[in-house]
Amino acid sequence: MGELLSGFRRSGMCASVNAADAGKRVSLCGWVQRRRDLGKLIFIWLRDYTGIVQVVFDQSRYAAVFDKATALRSEFVIAVRGTVEKRTAANINPELATGEVEVIADELIILNESQTPPFAVDDNTVVNDGTRYKYRYIDLRRPAMQRILRTRSKTAISVRNYFNENGFAEIETPVLCKSTPEGARDYLVPSRVHPGKFYALPQSPQLLKQLLMVGGMDRYFQIVKCFRDEDLRADRQPEFTQIDVEMSFVEQDQIMEIAEGMLSRVFREIVGYEIPMPIERMTYKTAMEKYGSDKPDLRFGLEIRNISGQVSSCGFSVFSAAVANGGSVRGINGKGLADKLSRKDIDALGETVKTYRAKGLAWMAVTAEGVRGSFVKFLTQEETASIISAMDAQPGDILFFVADSDKVALEALGQLRLELARRFELYDKKAYRFVWITEFPMFEYSPEDGRYYAVHHPFTAPMDEDLPLLDRNPGEMRAKAYDIVLNGYELGGGSIRIHDSAIQNRMFEALGLSKEDIEDRFGFLVDAFKYGAPPHGGFAIGMDRLIMLLCGTDNIKDVIAFPKMQNAACLMTGAPDTVDEAQLEELSVAVTKAES
Ligand code: AMO
Ligand code: AMP
Repeated sequence: MGELLSGFRRSGMCASVNAADAGKRVSLCGWVQRRRDLGKLIFIWLRDYTGIVQVVFDQSRYAAVFDKATALRSEFVIAVRGTVEKRTAANINPELATGEVEVIADELIILNESQTPPFAVDDNTVVNDGTRYKYRYIDLRRPAMQRILRTRSKTAISVRNYFNENGFAEIETPVLCKSTPEGARDYLVPSRVHPGKFYALPQSPQLLKQLLMVGGMDRYFQIVKCFRDEDLRADRQPEFTQIDVEMSFVEQDQIMEIAEGMLSRVFREIVGYEIPMPIERMTYKTAMEKYGSDKPDLRFGLEIRNISGQVSSCGFSVFSAAVANGGSVRGINGKGLADKLSRKDIDALGETVKTYRAKGLAWMAVTAEGVRGSFVKFLTQEETASIISAMDAQPGDILFFVADSDKVALEALGQLRLELARRFELYDKKAYRFVWITEFPMFEYSPEDGRYYAVHHPFTAPMDEDLPLLDRNPGEMRAKAYDIVLNGYELGGGSIRIHDSAIQNRMFEALGLSKEDIEDRFGFLVDAFKYGAPPHGGFAIGMDRLIMLLCGTDNIKDVIAFPKMQNAACLMTGAPDTVDEAQLEELSVAVTKAES
């Protein structure tokens, strides 16, 4: 059994001990990082969240304390009192911030023992995910995790200060909600009091924040948990946090200014980076055509070009047929990469684009002697020359082309662009490159379902000049919607909302909702708009993604204290789990299929 603190109070933190403290007595608490025995001396590294300091148990000076220290093992929890001494020049450890000093212990309390931990608490040990997340509380002791979670906390404070200074009120919205469509599946909570009825956990507080605007709150923000039952990826979790914002009496520009102000402040305060203002804006159309993505990574070039005009009647039938069928031929120029890619590499890149539905990848390497490639033999010299000129190619460059529908060609090349940039590290890993993507399409047509879906969400207002298209050609409508993109990640997004119940109804109808559906699911919103709704709009930033980028990690699990795994399970607690029959009975819920 561990000893008690019994009045022990620490005088400071491990990493704060320094040469100026020489001769002073300090009282410290923490975990044993490691123990080293040198006969009559025992050295331990004592760790708390601030760092490590060396504590020395010296048999010749404090024999009883020395004897007690022989029991110490990794991850024991202890309190020590002792005197700070400067180390001799030869013993200074530049690895430790406190490496100039050590604490000569004259008192030791063993507060708790530890079994041998499943992995060492340091940032260099490679641990498999299964072990790491099962013992997340040990993983959290690592300096990297300590730093990230404290950065997260500081970011939240910075965000709150910013909104507080700009007239926003932080207002909590309920977690037991009615379903809000953000495009993912809902997590449901059965109601005991209303058998057969369910609450939905919010995919975002979208409707509630709009109702707060109808409620005259004017400027709202919230750091809020959202829940989405969707396929998880490296940048997605089933429960995640948004910095959620809504404002009244504003247009798109003002909302974007507020978002920019918040991001400026956070990047300045957290990583000391001054975001060049204003942040570049790019339309969705340009982003798709140049980068094949609505979240382009602008840290590098490799822009996509359209060579349909050059090849529409060329002898390579793959190209000419694609253009004749209403598609296009587009390509990117791998500047200076001709000699860096083997045939095998090129074939592998061909497989990459095929996973994005492209039928193949045509390539042409430009050398001082001429060109070589998969389709050169089908072209006249003039055709080859016009492609080289259209692609701005020089000797040493390798050109890649995809011939297909615009959608497939752009997406496949967009992905190829990312792959080449990753492989050849064509960007500065430390750079931050922001861009706003604007003028998103309002709707996306699903051929499988035979209907339109809202690209952002059904409460987004169309661009004024596009409203007449609602009846004629909804597919061409653009929305007052915008995303903020950082280094190829969608950091956040928002829109101006519809605040007119007639237009909102028409929008629901365009989405194929019947009058009954509208009444049943969104009646409260349409009703609210009949009682003086101000013009309003807002945005939400993915807090977890923001922290990821601030901390330089590409795994969202790193920035969440207790994340879920790919299959939405928590390895530490075992959630989700079965519940008692009695609990189900009480909720009037029957299980029809269970995981074995
Ligand atoms: P949206 O659905 O674009 O907009 O979400 C906003 C931001 O939230 C983050 N995000 C996620 N982060 C981690 N895991 C997830 N599963 C996940 N899903 C989304 C992203 C995203 O950009 N109500 C609107 C906002 C508005 O219009 O004001 C909304 O939720 O960074
Ligand atoms: P093939 O005529 O099928 O032997 O293809 C010749 C070259 O064109 C190969 O390098 C294929 O990968 C490439 N290719 C085939 N289809 C396409 C396409 N739709 N777009 C671009 N390249 C293609």
